[in-house]
Amino acid sequence: MVVLRMAHRGTFITFEGLDGCGKSTQMRRLAVRLRKMGRTVLETAEPGGTPIGLKVRRILLDSANRELSPAAELLLYFACRAQNVDEWIVPALERGDIVLSDRFTDSSLVYQGIGRGLGVEPVMALDRIACRGLVPGLTLLIDIDLETGLQRAHARNRRENEIESRMDEQAVEFHRIVSGAYQDLAAREPERIKVIDGGRTMAAVERDIWEIVARYVS
Ligand code: TYD
Repeated sequence: MVVLRMAHRGTFITFEGLDGCGKSTQMRRLAVRLRKMGRTVLETAEPGGTPIGLKVRRILLDSANRELSPAAELLLYFACRAQNVDEWIVPALERGDIVLSDRFTDSSLVYQGIGRGLGVEPVMALDRIACRGLVPGLTLLIDIDLETGLQRAHARNRRENEIESRMDEQAVEFHRIVSGAYQDLAAREPERIKVIDGGRTMAAVERDIWEIVARYVS
């Protein structure tokens, strides 16, 4: 197996957080700012990203797929990630670009590893296959309370007549476990994972993110 060299010229930043935490909006705003500075930015998202990943996303998030097993779910998230890493992320990093990803392996750790109870080690084993040593340099974890996040996610699903709601529809207890798992992860890796209070205005959250990223990319 080819091991990806860690000495990419580019910068890999990921966004994490509960459904409805506002990370997708923040990621778009960050991309705009970085481009204004003349940087080349690849924006990607998981599950999805590449055209193949988007097909897998439909299976993962279709609310009709209630019988999808936890192991199948985990493998499908990593199928998207493997394709994203090989087709988009690594080539961009090799060109020296900035890559912004809306979710990455941390999501699988907290949702499948802890939330579904599949364990951290199986998730990391798949990470070794799909990502081969590629770890984000910086992860922005947007922290909001569970109720606010779920309210926003459910409102969005109703507004957009969303069929991609299988994960949002999980029991509140599942999301509570995921929320705790994010906190534990951030406490274990304070250098890489920066926690941002997402319970404020979009502008305030954006300011905090920029303060962290500006230092990181300069
Ligand atoms: P999505 O519609 O992209 O929403 P969000 O804005 O919350 O990211 O839904 C992605 C869902 O998939 C979300 O509930 C988190 C979940 N997920 C996992 O369970 N494991 C993973 O590895 C990833 C990438 C996402």
